[in-house]
Amino acid sequence: MDYLDFLHSANRPAIRQLRQETESRLAQPKKGFLRFREPYEAIQHLRAKFTDFSSDAVTIGQADELNQADRQLVYEAMRAFMPWRKGPFNIFGIEIDSEWQSQRKWNRIAPMLPDLSGKVIADIGCNNGYYMFRTIPHQPKAVIGFEPFLQHYYCFNTLNQLAGVDNLFMEMMGVEQINLFPDCFDLILLMGIIYHRISPVEMLREIRAALRPGGTLILESQAIPGDEPVALFPESRYAKVPGTYFVPTAACLKNWLTRVGFAEVEIFCCHPMSNEEQRRTDWMTFESYSDFIDPTNPSLTVEGYPAPLRVFLKATNPG
Ligand SMILES: C[S@@+](CC[C@H](N)C(=O)[O-])C[C@H]1O[C@@H](n2cnc3c(N)ncnc32)[C@H](O)[C@@H]1O
Repeated sequence: MDYLDFLHSANRPAIRQLRQETESRLAQPKKGFLRFREPYEAIQHLRAKFTDFSSDAVTIGQADELNQADRQLVYEAMRAFMPWRKGPFNIFGIEIDSEWQSQRKWNRIAPMLPDLSGKVIADIGCNNGYYMFRTIPHQPKAVIGFEPFLQHYYCFNTLNQLAGVDNLFMEMMGVEQINLFPDCFDLILLMGIIYHRISPVEMLREIRAALRPGGTLILESQAIPGDEPVALFPESRYAKVPGTYFVPTAACLKNWLTRVGFAEVEIFCCHPMSNEEQRRTDWMTFESYSDFIDPTNPSLTVEGYPAPLRVFLKATNPG
């Protein structure tokens, strides 16, 4: 199935053209591509009998489905996709403890989701597809992940090659291409993206145009504390992360959404970050939350800015 066959308002010629360009690019025998293409190809012969997307760990296959040789192949393929930022996953009994406890974010948004059965969903910046898999028990018609990074693209395709879910798709595109999808989606997940955009309000305008009338946006962002509708603009990095532009308050995000024409804008969750939710593991061995925060004052980042909150908003495209 190709979702473009039924997504009539999408700019299908342009999307197909981009797909072709991506395919030709990835077919080149470049070291940087092969690093992720090879593990994907190494386990192409395997397909899980058992899957479960309703528990905290996205589960694909059980340990007793594989012989020792195939289990080793799967283990090596999974290690090749390190660092694992989002999860947890359980792949044929191999427990992948990711940096983020993404089930916590899912559990915050799940009660706020509209009825998804038969609906078309976009997950912008979907990483390895953790949340895409979690939508499957809600019986969507199609879930399209947008993810421009090669590692995540191959990681998702490897996982879904094992899982065999035929209504999950990943496009190796960024939010920059969302304007190819006017009037297309019933739900857009825009999580962990907005503070990386140099023009966040312009992006929200394009996101609204990609929603069908009545469609829902779930927006999650890092935020600074405070009731004023303001945003921090760091000198270079925020919590050591480069490419961070505007870090708003929840009230500021609400105003951005309202000003671009969203209706029923609601802040439904706000919580401080912690090293319980984001931490170093055997599957992500680089620095993590504790390294980003002032060791003598946990209310500040290492740069001396207010430490991040996470805020969640829900909004509707009135059409
Ligand atoms: C902070 S992570 C958030 C991942 C996930 N949405 C979540 O909330 O857990 C940002 C993700 O956006 C992806 N990304 C980077 N540039 C992007 C772009 N221009 N458009 C869409 N996604 C992008 C990154 O590769 C990464 O997977």
